[in-house]
Amino acid sequence: MADDAFLALGREAERMIRDLAQISAEEGRLIRLYLTPEHRHAADLVGRWMSEAGLDVTEDALGTVRGRLDPAGGGQNAARRLLIGSHIDTVIDAGAYDGTLGVIAGILAVREVVRRHGRMPFGIDVLAFGDEEGSRFPATLLCSEAVAGHFDSAALAVESVDGVRLDDALRRYGKDPARIGEAAYDPEEAAAYVEVHIEQGPVLEQAGEALGVVTAIASQSRHTVTVIGEAGHAGTVPMALRRDALAASAEIALALEGLALGNADDFMVGTVGKMSVLPGATNVIPARVVFTVDLRSQTDARRLEALARLRDEIAAIADRRRVTAWMERTHEVAAKPCDPTLQAGFAGAIAGQGGRAIRLPSGAGHDGQAVGALCPIGMLFVRCRGGISHNPAEFTSVEDMGRAVAALIGFIENFDRSFLAA
Ligand code: GLV
Ligand code: MN
Ligand code: MN
Repeated sequence: MADDAFLALGREAERMIRDLAQISAEEGRLIRLYLTPEHRHAADLVGRWMSEAGLDVTEDALGTVRGRLDPAGGGQNAARRLLIGSHIDTVIDAGAYDGTLGVIAGILAVREVVRRHGRMPFGIDVLAFGDEEGSRFPATLLCSEAVAGHFDSAALAVESVDGVRLDDALRRYGKDPARIGEAAYDPEEAAAYVEVHIEQGPVLEQAGEALGVVTAIASQSRHTVTVIGEAGHAGTVPMALRRDALAASAEIALALEGLALGNADDFMVGTVGKMSVLPGATNVIPARVVFTVDLRSQTDARRLEALARLRDEIAAIADRRRVTAWMERTHEVAAKPCDPTLQAGFAGAIAGQGGRAIRLPSGAGHDGQAVGALCPIGMLFVRCRGGISHNPAEFTSVEDMGRAVAALIGFIENFDRSFLAA
């Protein structure tokens, strides 16, 4: 493919990225949370693009937009289906590419495949999931878990940051929680799931390559920690007599940092990203602090071992500081290896463009982790500037996006030979 063909595909992707980035809860900051009016608006736009690409569009009970292309029919792979997906929700003050690029790449690639070949010997579904980030509800990957047939109905009772239960939010969005089970694919039908995503790290940029093949997605735990101390006068209570919930929380956050630093060889990372301090006044000793813990590692065993040590540290810190503290799990997902044959399919597509197929693990979570309970998964990473993500400065060039769409087209064109027949 000539460079201007990549540029033409990339320009279309860029235009669609810009259109989706306009859909936000706030002007000047990109915020698009699950089951909000912005989600509805983005889902409608994505559905329209899918239809224009020749796909039959439906939505399941969790709001996943599904664009379906049926197989040519008759052949031995006519009952199999390639799933291509990513997400259209965002973090708070997000960049424009995280998740959206994968959905757009799927739509553009299938549109081009239809233009070149009509239907393929196998079916294809493009999926736009609604809650990969977990920014509104303290659970995440709900849409992709439902598609995999692993939705846990206990999640229906979780409450959003704006105080709405998930089942109520679904009803307000026009969905029937009793029909979530229908979102699941038959494992016989779902042959594989693949996703294009920005790398969100610096490896490809440093290697001078536009695209890379993901080997595995890191394991992840999210928890809420609550620390209860005692409010008091900031001017009168001597330091030694305080039961300061925030000072204890700060020590717990540093303990988490220490655990991650000690496990750097397993790519462990630990983050406290959100904290609420009550009563929240300059001259009052904090009485109650609630904060999040996000802990990831390449292997499940190392993550679980670090979590056990964090619990011990919390107990010791609480004891020493005479506060009460506990930690509750809100999300956990195991490490997910990418399928070697799907990796080879993407490596072949990259080599077909004259690129070097770098292999790299993902520290970020992805819908594939949940869909991996249904079928083999594969991911293609796209270089992003400075490795910056979850930040409005997130950027991927037009040419790199074009290369990603072209690689996905090549991957789809070879899918029955390279994967279904393997
Ligand atoms: C999703 O972006 C994550 O937190 O990994
Ligand atoms: Mn993402
Ligand atoms: Mn993200």
